[in-house]
Amino acid sequence: LSKLWGGRFSKEPAPEMQAFTQSLSFDLRLAADDRAVLAAHCRALARAGLLSAADLRAVEAALDDLELRPEPGDEDVHSVVERALLQRLPEIAPRVRAGLSRNDRVAAALRRWLLREGAAVVALLADLVDTLAARAREHPDAVLPGYTHLQRAQPVRLAQHVLAHAFAFARDADRMLDALARADASPLGAGALAGSTLGLEHDPADAGFARAMPNSLDAVAARDFVAEFCAAAAICGVHLSRLGEEVVLWTSEEFGFAELSDAHATGSSLMPQKKNPDVFELARGKAGRLIGDLTGLLATLKGLPLAYNRDLQEDKEPLFDAVDTLRSMLPAVTVAMRDIAFDTENMARAAASGTLLATDLAEYLVQRGTPFKDAHEMVGRAVQAALGDGRSLAEVAAAEFGADVKDVLDARASVERRAAQSRAAAAAQLAELGDSVARIRARSAR
Ligand code: ARG
Repeated sequence: LSKLWGGRFSKEPAPEMQAFTQSLSFDLRLAADDRAVLAAHCRALARAGLLSAADLRAVEAALDDLELRPEPGDEDVHSVVERALLQRLPEIAPRVRAGLSRNDRVAAALRRWLLREGAAVVALLADLVDTLAARAREHPDAVLPGYTHLQRAQPVRLAQHVLAHAFAFARDADRMLDALARADASPLGAGALAGSTLGLEHDPADAGFARAMPNSLDAVAARDFVAEFCAAAAICGVHLSRLGEEVVLWTSEEFGFAELSDAHATGSSLMPQKKNPDVFELARGKAGRLIGDLTGLLATLKGLPLAYNRDLQEDKEPLFDAVDTLRSMLPAVTVAMRDIAFDTENMARAAASGTLLATDLAEYLVQRGTPFKDAHEMVGRAVQAALGDGRSLAEVAAAEFGADVKDVLDARASVERRAAQSRAAAAAQLAELGDSVARIRARSAR
């Protein structure tokens, strides 16, 4: 039996208890990190004279290529690693757990896992930002209606619209990196909660961390590092859902602003003509699951007394799910955005029609000396007149305010007139995003 305890028990564990409390079914993926943590602990034991140099070498070599064979009844990944090591080194293995508890061990393994996997998520976000920036660069002059309240509002550049999403994803990457920097601290040495009497000197760098956690109770009890990453993942999910919703809208016949590549769309089993944006619907839908990962975890943590409680075992599945979800979602969204075709003619038509340039007209009157309140009122009446008798706003405006308003009522000229949307502004945004992505990639490649 590979239990890590049992001396004080006179009965075998009940199968129902084992089945309910086990975490092996989901924590085996921590095995590599658990082995690295155990090896670092053994080096601390050796430094304290509690493991000979030869024994340390034997343990390190064994941990390097340990074959793990989970068995029914195994409680968790730590039990499986322990049994494998015992089988391999029956003389030495019983010494290696001195001063190490599963409480500091699991916290250290999970932090290591997150530092690596979280960095992989960040790198995927950098790919998405790069892709969106490339798509924006392809369309420097395309103009479409911008929306507020999902009502046509004012003309915007396609590049401006696409880059708005890119900036949000760049912030998500920064948020995750900030969380990872805080997670980069070693709980080793805390033992179960109170440290040990063995005079161990743990070297955080040796276990793969930037620094040590100063407080042993905090070291085994803290899970804000998990919550922070799940929060950043949930916010990222929300951003993906907002992009997803727009692609769903834009690819509809009603909008007609974009068409997905056939490689990134799905069909209907019943309606032969259908081409569906499932990637983006799922990007929208999975935000719910990422939010659930965060809220479930926070509900688990709320009210827990110090230090370790078994409730904390519930930290892993939400974190794994959040990371797995983003690791499948981000590449799918990125390649679909790389290949989506924007219909810039439809966009231009939509931007030229209707009353999108009413604000430009009012601002033109302001420049001719009219107070804005009055200009707003005058243009509002012109819009009403145009809508009333089916004339264009341009016709009504020419009649009301003089023929030279024609120059004002051009969507492409409108965006260029605005400092926020000039070509220079787009270039500046692309440069800033390029710097962000370079910084993000450098930080995530630790
Ligand atoms: N599987 C446990 C977890 O995930 C490992 C720690 C168990 N510690 C304990 N004292 N029972 O948290």
